[in-house]
Amino acid sequence: MKAACVADYREACRRRLPKVLFDYIDGGSYGETTLAANVSDMAAITLRQRVLRDVSELSMSTRVFGQDLSMPVVLSPVGLAGMYARRGETQAARAAKAAGVPFSLSTVGVCTTAEVTAASGVPPWFQLYMIKDRGFMSELLATTREAGCPVLLFTVDLPVAGARYRDARNGLNVASPEARLRQAIDGLAHPDWFWDVLVKGGPQSLGNIASASTDLGALQEYMGWIGRNFDPSVTWKDIDWVRDRWPGPLVLKGVLDAEDARDARSCGVEGLVVSNHGGRQLDGAPSSISALPAIVEAVGDDLTVLMDGGVRSGLDVLKALALGAKACLIGRAWAYALGAGGEAGVAGMLTILRQELRMAMSLTGCTDVRDAGRALLNP
Ligand SMILES: Cc1cc2nc3c(=O)[nH]c(=O)nc-3n(C[C@H](O)[C@H](O)[C@H](O)COP(=O)(O)O)c2cc1C
Repeated sequence: MKAACVADYREACRRRLPKVLFDYIDGGSYGETTLAANVSDMAAITLRQRVLRDVSELSMSTRVFGQDLSMPVVLSPVGLAGMYARRGETQAARAAKAAGVPFSLSTVGVCTTAEVTAASGVPPWFQLYMIKDRGFMSELLATTREAGCPVLLFTVDLPVAGARYRDARNGLNVASPEARLRQAIDGLAHPDWFWDVLVKGGPQSLGNIASASTDLGALQEYMGWIGRNFDPSVTWKDIDWVRDRWPGPLVLKGVLDAEDARDARSCGVEGLVVSNHGGRQLDGAPSSISALPAIVEAVGDDLTVLMDGGVRSGLDVLKALALGAKACLIGRAWAYALGAGGEAGVAGMLTILRQELRMAMSLTGCTDVRDAGRALLNP
């Protein structure tokens, strides 16, 4: 069946991937309340239907952090993507490059920055998690700079990992022999994936941080490794530490509160991603789309405000722009598409998103994404 929307890619991904991986992508923390709110609050916002406005020419392109985007969409950093399809980060980065949008490489990606750059022809945006070993972090930032990554997304909403019940049940925290056996059986029950990723897709390590994660046995145990190695002592002062090592655009990812947004402005960062980590961290935290307006109001004139969480269609992209985001990041949308069909899956999903955005713009009478504002929304 040809996928018509992100939900179709989700279903195809569910069929192709072992349960432990699909649940890792699909799930959120605790009761998954925030995960659900990201989607339902987005759905509750409605666009105004407008007519007779000459929508024969539409402009979807925009510019953020000095980069031209063919549409206001960025692939969000997603860990372990190389486990969803063979060298998954390279496949997604190629699809993003072809679509004219940036790809963000997670600190806990399987492929290295160099591998992604070689495959796609452009250095990715790089997402940073702070690991306790600062000497290693300095080296990582130096490598990232030398690789020419244009933007650093510093993720600040994961000092500790939120409890994700699905991952705990599937043995992603501390893999017991029983969980390992179940995972092995599940892997064998998905032969396409097994052949593509496990047989042909190695090495399965955390590419850029492989040398700092030698104590990580199987990737399936990596949530436990994160708990041991991420640095929960990070404060606003550490932004200066990062800044000393990163002269380019520095963007804090995971800000949900206007007061934090003002502090971020004082620290001199260039941008923010309004995000609750896709509902994977503090359950009960507000949805990203509901938190966006206050943050735009607080710092939108000074900082580039992006958002992610719950974006599943081009209509959602237009809603976020109407509420003041300069662009949306998408996480699960591309992870599902990659798991479902590799590079072609991500390319197909991005084409759908673009068509949906075009249609939403046409039916709301919005001819340029850079002009999107509150007037597009029903009160
Ligand atoms: C499977 C998965 C892995 C993720 N890994 C990371 C990561 O390594 N670093 C990061 O900053 N955010 C990570 N995120 C969060 C995403 O970057 C993004 O904030 C979130 O997925 C947006 O919500 P959405 O999935 O509803 O689009 C991950 C999200 C998912 C679904």
